[in-house]
Amino acid sequence: MTWREYHESTKHSVESLRRSRHYLDWATMPDPFRHYEGVPLLDLPADPSAPQIPPVAQDGPAFLSQLLFYSAAISASKRVPSTGDKYALRVNPSSGNLHPTEFHFITRGLKQWPDGLYHYRPSSHMAEQRALGEFVLAAIDAPIVFLLTSIAWREAWKYQSRAYRYCLHDMGHAWQSLALAAHAIGCESFASGQFADDEVAQACRLSGDEWPMLLVALRGACIPAGAIRARETVWFGGNPNQLSSETVKYPLIDGIYAATKLLRAGEVEPASAGRGKIVLPMPAVSARAFGEVVRTRRSALDFCGGDLSISLPQLSAILAASAQPFFADFAGARLVQLYLYAHRVNGVEPGVYRYWPDSGLELIKSGDQRVAAAGLSLGQALAGNACVAFSMIADLDRAARAYGDRGYRYAHFEAGAIGQRLYLAAEALGFGATGIGAFFDDQVHRYLGLDPEQGQVIFHFAIGYPVHDPRLDA
Ligand SMILES: Cc1cc2nc3c(=O)[nH]c(=O)nc-3n(C[C@H](O)[C@H](O)[C@H](O)COP(=O)(O)O)c2cc1C
Repeated sequence: MTWREYHESTKHSVESLRRSRHYLDWATMPDPFRHYEGVPLLDLPADPSAPQIPPVAQDGPAFLSQLLFYSAAISASKRVPSTGDKYALRVNPSSGNLHPTEFHFITRGLKQWPDGLYHYRPSSHMAEQRALGEFVLAAIDAPIVFLLTSIAWREAWKYQSRAYRYCLHDMGHAWQSLALAAHAIGCESFASGQFADDEVAQACRLSGDEWPMLLVALRGACIPAGAIRARETVWFGGNPNQLSSETVKYPLIDGIYAATKLLRAGEVEPASAGRGKIVLPMPAVSARAFGEVVRTRRSALDFCGGDLSISLPQLSAILAASAQPFFADFAGARLVQLYLYAHRVNGVEPGVYRYWPDSGLELIKSGDQRVAAAGLSLGQALAGNACVAFSMIADLDRAARAYGDRGYRYAHFEAGAIGQRLYLAAEALGFGATGIGAFFDDQVHRYLGLDPEQGQVIFHFAIGYPVHDPRLDA
């Protein structure tokens, strides 16, 4: 299996949807919460203070509580109208709200917090202590190192073979959610995707259904330091809870996972350069605080169509957020480029535009794009009712030249990370946003006039004025 075979086999087309006999088997829906049962549970203090700079001095538990509360915790709930049942929503978004990403972390020398390996339990905002002692993963020397893992079955239950793509997007969102919260507290973060998966999985005694995907090291004076107490490792381990009564095997997912496990060191070539004619103005600014923005961010169900538009400085701010650098060992050059379907942007003719961060917007196609954007997004009206929708086009060949099949992961991480930036920038400016993993791949290429060597569509996105979602609790 190669990335190309997997990608081609998991494209949506009218024909593939027609052929699909898949239905959602609610009896086997995977539990969105992993617990390692039988381990000590450490409280993370409730109601942590909002991130601020300079950071307030705090101890290890308060620091970790704040970091996780603003990056991975539960932040809202929705009610199922027919049954009245409630389900949780989190700071980080997730395709189908299925949350394949788990947050583990190792700590060393934190004030009033024992060195060891932990797993975050979002359902009760607690840390499961899986082991005490000193852990070093992939030779990374930092006081806090997060290990983000993916449970593919959670997504495959709904999205079948295409689910590996969504796991990678979710990982990108989770990574940025963590990196931006760390930044808001005054920490630097650096993500590593280039590590030996099996070694990390073994060192952390991961359950077989959890795949290590990213290591994120946090450093900075804001991390409350205590004594480093080197000692023997004591394992509590814990039994991972069973997520479903039954699982279904998806050979394409196992195949692409095996292909992307192979490590190849490489340097990614720079992206090709181009020019946009529409120069973007100074970005609009938002007065909303980071903590409030991330805790109130939601995916819009749909957007109000009509006349309401986004201003060019607001769009400029959203695009600038997407172009800020990423700090990761696979982020030497960008792999993803944004194409915009501008429906209602003040001062910009409706049309399709390509975004060049250095120079602005290049017109690709003029005219009303609402029907096209919705149609290409598998008929989802929200891509047409938005003020602006996006196709993220990834240079998967360039990624593979640098990293082999593993580059497939990195392009999707980048797209998810851009998505997270778009979500927060939109929210900060008073808009709503929604990531869109479902689109007709080859139709998008044809519509945008892309040759195969110009890249592949890997993610869609939409931003606009959200309609009220009655399922959200007040
Ligand atoms: C990678 C990804 C793909 C998504 N794809 C879609 C989609 O195709 N259509 C849609 O309506 N929402 C989509 N969403 C939004 C999710 O349904 C939403 O994040 C989830 O229900 C949780 O809600 P929240 O974002 O408000 O926390 C996607 C989200 C992500 C992160």
